[in-house]
Amino acid sequence: MARLGVNIDHVATVRQARNTYEPDPVWAATLAELAGADGITVHLREDRRHIQERDVRLLRETVHVKLNLELACEAGVLEIACRLKPDQATLVPERREEVTTEGGLDVVANRQQVHDAVSQLRAAGIVVSLFIDPVAEQVEAAAASQAEAIELHTGCYALATGSRQAAELARLIEAGRLARQRGLILNAGHGLNYQNVGPVAAIAEMDELNIGHSIVARAVMVGMDRAVREMKALLSPIV
Ligand code: PXP
Repeated sequence: MARLGVNIDHVATVRQARNTYEPDPVWAATLAELAGADGITVHLREDRRHIQERDVRLLRETVHVKLNLELACEAGVLEIACRLKPDQATLVPERREEVTTEGGLDVVANRQQVHDAVSQLRAAGIVVSLFIDPVAEQVEAAAASQAEAIELHTGCYALATGSRQAAELARLIEAGRLARQRGLILNAGHGLNYQNVGPVAAIAEMDELNIGHSIVARAVMVGMDRAVREMKALLSPIV
């Protein structure tokens, strides 16, 4: 059964809209954990548009499931990660003008930079995952970088419809198979929601799905507890 990492960035987005103290992502993490989340994920972006360093510090103290920090290969944020020691760090590409992370990390084109970041994080005792597109060359480069895990970018799958969606799912399955052959832990995420998560959760040896926007959006309407429990139920195989 795939585990559920709840990304709470957009709780912080609402807080930052008024530059105030509520809603606090720390509250959201506690509620998600109590509802059965297997992990809490946050992205400390360079522009600090939602999650702040203070949030990561408090989450490190209060989250008792896996804490996964998404970050770019950038010196300042790597230093924060090594100091605060999340359980896992997921390296992502970052562009200031993007609404959300738009593509996977290009490990092939940035081998040395990624390798150095992986080494720095692993030396601090942090498990490293690389957020990559479901492309064989990227999986091979991720394995060569000494990262322990990859997170397959499910954005194209999430946006596709009809036969195109089946083709995108096949790419995820193929890349996932290669990753497992190379000994990488297999994670996935981006754009997953209550309608499209099932087939991705069913991919063989899928370890963890990181899901943010759809859970936070539902939580606004029905509460965090129910939103997390409903997503958790969709990740369990029907017996
Ligand atoms: N995984 C990664 C690496 C991400 O950057 C994001 C978005 O922050 C997610 C998962 C979650 O995506 P979504 O909010 O679309 O569920």
